[in-house]
Amino acid sequence: MNNTIKYFQQLLHTALALYFGKESNYVSIQDIPLPNPSEFSPIIPNSIQPTFEERIVLLLALMPHLSPQTLDSFFLQNKDLDRPYTEFGGWKGASHNGFLPTGQTVAFIIGNAELNIENFFHRSHWFYKNNILHLEGQGDGEPFLSGRLVVSDEVLAKLQNREYEPEYNASFPAKRITTPLEWLDLVLPYNLNEEINNIIRWIQHENEIREQWRLNRIVKPGYRCLFYGPPGTGKTLTATLLGKQTAQDVYRVDLSMIVSKYIGETEKNLAKVFDKAAYRRWILFFDEADALFGQRGETQTSNDRHANQEVAYLLQRIEDFPGTVILASNLKDNIDEAFFRRFQSALYFPMPNERLRYQLWQKMLPAEWLPDNTGEFFQKVAEYKLSGGNMVNVIQSCAIQLYGKTPPKLTLEQLKQAVARELSKDGKVVN
Ligand SMILES: Nc1ncnc2c1ncn2[C@@H]1O[C@H](COP(=O)(O)OP(=O)(O)OP(=O)(O)O)[C@@H](O)[C@H]1O
Ligand SMILES: [Mg+2]
Repeated sequence: MNNTIKYFQQLLHTALALYFGKESNYVSIQDIPLPNPSEFSPIIPNSIQPTFEERIVLLLALMPHLSPQTLDSFFLQNKDLDRPYTEFGGWKGASHNGFLPTGQTVAFIIGNAELNIENFFHRSHWFYKNNILHLEGQGDGEPFLSGRLVVSDEVLAKLQNREYEPEYNASFPAKRITTPLEWLDLVLPYNLNEEINNIIRWIQHENEIREQWRLNRIVKPGYRCLFYGPPGTGKTLTATLLGKQTAQDVYRVDLSMIVSKYIGETEKNLAKVFDKAAYRRWILFFDEADALFGQRGETQTSNDRHANQEVAYLLQRIEDFPGTVILASNLKDNIDEAFFRRFQSALYFPMPNERLRYQLWQKMLPAEWLPDNTGEFFQKVAEYKLSGGNMVNVIQSCAIQLYGKTPPKLTLEQLKQAVARELSKDGKVVN
């Protein structure tokens, strides 16, 4: 980046010299030889050839991070008026001691009155669409270009060669979820599997599908879906694998936490999640959506009313979200009609039947544990009425028993005991 910084220093020096009618090596900032463009290539999408002016905007936005002192010349005071030059724009940060450029700073450096500087910051510009930079923080009724020039966290991460992942905390209540499992590990009833494949098809071909038949006039972008059913039946796993399959990050938002804990702050925090997610092609996974269903209906206390407003806000954002949103819940009776209407599909994840349990055990049990006659073994264990989640617990408990044994063979009796322990958690017995 050194050459780029030197280039920018020269550019600034020249722009100021030209503005104040001082001597300069160049007649115009365009004459300064450009640095090697490859220094930027990680940040700029392949399909884009930035213009000279766009380069300046990007460089200026990066300067507080790359070389803040470079911008110090903007602190120059106007001696006649004994105040900073308005035409430079700029802010002083809350903690940053240097100059933070604004849209006005861009206008000053480019110095071309014919050019509409605001265009660089429109939603249709590639800067915005690719989440590279934007203006923010204009005061009420103040000029648009007085907004601070902000590069996205992703661009900064890319410059530092690290992967961007926002931190989970109260003000950003979403966390990325991943799984080491693959699509083939997922065992679902045939119909459900088909429905999931439809979602994948939509995610992969949404634009073509909507444009081909001019459906964009009537069909909203994005896909909203409800997963419901008993615990441990694969709702979270399916959502995570959907992301893996379509190369999108999946972010999980725990609604039970949001609706109860952060009343008041919720809208602001949720807005952050939706805003971040919108241009990053994330799949948003709202877990424990029961918290939402519970909050609708008659309200008594002011807290309830508040929560109801938040729910309304959340539903609106979900409806308007241009990507994939999945809500998960254990309840099936409590969900009212109004809810279902907002979703493109509501998929029921049932407890697996015997055939599916057979497959689940087959995929999950380590081959080393199995007796010679596996067919009979699987048939027997498939009889226990367990969810996939239950099986994981049973297997863990068996693993602890088998650790250190040679050979580590699992007997039906051992497995049965582990199943009994698992079922007793829900007050059930082995049948
Ligand atoms: N249908 C399935 N296919 C394969 N593995 C499964 C399936 N269901 C559950 N499992 C296993 O059980 C684990 C727990 O399942 P998961 O967390 O997806 O359940 P869930 O439906 O989200 O439960 P909850 O309602 O409690 O959140 C999975 O990580 C996976 O190992
Ligand atoms: Mg879950």
